[in-house]
Amino acid sequence: MSRMKLVVGIGGASGAPYARRLLDHLAARDDVEPAIVFSVNGRQVWAQEIGTDPRSYGFPVYGHRDFHAPFASGSALYRHMVIVPCSASGMARIAHGVSDDLLGRAAEVMLKERGKLVLCVRETPLSQVHLRAALLAAEAGAVVMPAAPSFYTHPASIEDLLDTVVARILDHLGLENDLMQRWGSAPARLRAIEGERS
Ligand SMILES: Cc1cc2nc3c(=O)[nH]c(=O)nc-3n(C[C@H](O)[C@H](O)[C@H](O)COP(=O)(O)O)c2cc1C
Repeated sequence: MSRMKLVVGIGGASGAPYARRLLDHLAARDDVEPAIVFSVNGRQVWAQEIGTDPRSYGFPVYGHRDFHAPFASGSALYRHMVIVPCSASGMARIAHGVSDDLLGRAAEVMLKERGKLVLCVRETPLSQVHLRAALLAAEAGAVVMPAAPSFYTHPASIEDLLDTVVARILDHLGLENDLMQRWGSAPARLRAIEGERS
């Protein structure tokens, strides 16, 4: 079985715990070959919100200006990438074809090769500039997936809450997972509430 070559980009927005949770999950599966790239501010936010050395996962971590990284070229056949968290400005740069760091270049490659690019954007509120950039990115083929956790599964911990976003990222990358309870397979608690209403 060939493993999915996946670029995990970590941008300069709050929300590094989403990336940490995704990497924890990827470390436990054997069908994915992740490669990590941070933006400069992504490193800073990771240091502030997580604090551990991302190399501890054992996945390759590429420098933000390392254009010799394999996924800086379409010929290396990376066709899946997520940026989590993705800053509003990172999304805008990608939407406009600006690729002055490895994160932007990898995203550019993903779009030109018609690969799967998931942008897990974290900013609030969104300005008109952000909204236009989101539309441009979606038109170019990216999946714009705001880092917006859901509550209908009654997450009992922050990890559970993070998983409601990570599960959707994995879904869009085509990676089967059971990180969250699926709509339609409601837990007893939800059914009880529905019962009360009917
Ligand atoms: C600690 C910290 C938190 C930040 N949080 C956000 C955020 O949540 N969303 C956002 O769009 N930008 C945020 N920024 C600003 C971005 O890091 C900045 O605009 C940067 O240029 C984004 O580009 P990058 O994603 O390529 O790092 C934050 C910056 C710092 C230092």
